[in-house]
Amino acid sequence: MMKEEVCYQGMTFKPMITNKDIQQRIAEIGQHITADYSGREPLFIVVLNGAFPFAADLIRAVDLDSEISFIRYKSYEGTGSTGKIKQIIGLSDSIEGKDIIVVEDIVDTGFTIRSLLADLRERHPASIRVASLLYKPEAIRTGYVPDYVGFEIPTKFIIGFGLDIDGKARNLNDIYVLSE
Ligand code: IMP
Ligand code: MG
Repeated sequence: MMKEEVCYQGMTFKPMITNKDIQQRIAEIGQHITADYSGREPLFIVVLNGAFPFAADLIRAVDLDSEISFIRYKSYEGTGSTGKIKQIIGLSDSIEGKDIIVVEDIVDTGFTIRSLLADLRERHPASIRVASLLYKPEAIRTGYVPDYVGFEIPTKFIIGFGLDIDGKARNLNDIYVLSE
């Protein structure tokens, strides 16, 4: 049952997307991927931490022989430099010649995913597509649109089903939006 509201750090969040709707949408995306990749064996690359609940459901909604691998995208604050350097950690096996489906929780500005895709392309996969549970089209400044989108949402802060507020709320079964 969805809660009427949840509170984190003195902020109130209201229901936005029920788990039932999430599951229904994941089933649809799973059918699309199954049809699009017929005869192939995609490798799902899941971007931790936020995408893990989405990925767990999505891979089971895809009726193909697939593989799964997990990465994190770590930001390093250079001590002597002002710039942030981001680096993929966890991708030890070769992805050369593979059909990659990147699994993300949310694409907001698109900077993270674009940077990640650039890194993955250097490793020469056969193809790369992106499945993102959520997409904020208004916030996108990079012109990036994921190949598979669960829900388009307004430019508001959301939590639950993998999405966090300072590390908390990932375990919520449904998605909640910050109420103003
Ligand atoms: P982007 O680089 O702006 O597309 O977003 C990168 C990351 O910001 C996402 O992978 C999320 O981890 C985080 N993020 C963006 N919007 C939200 C939100 O509404 N709630 C929680 N995390 C978010
Ligand atoms: Mg993320």
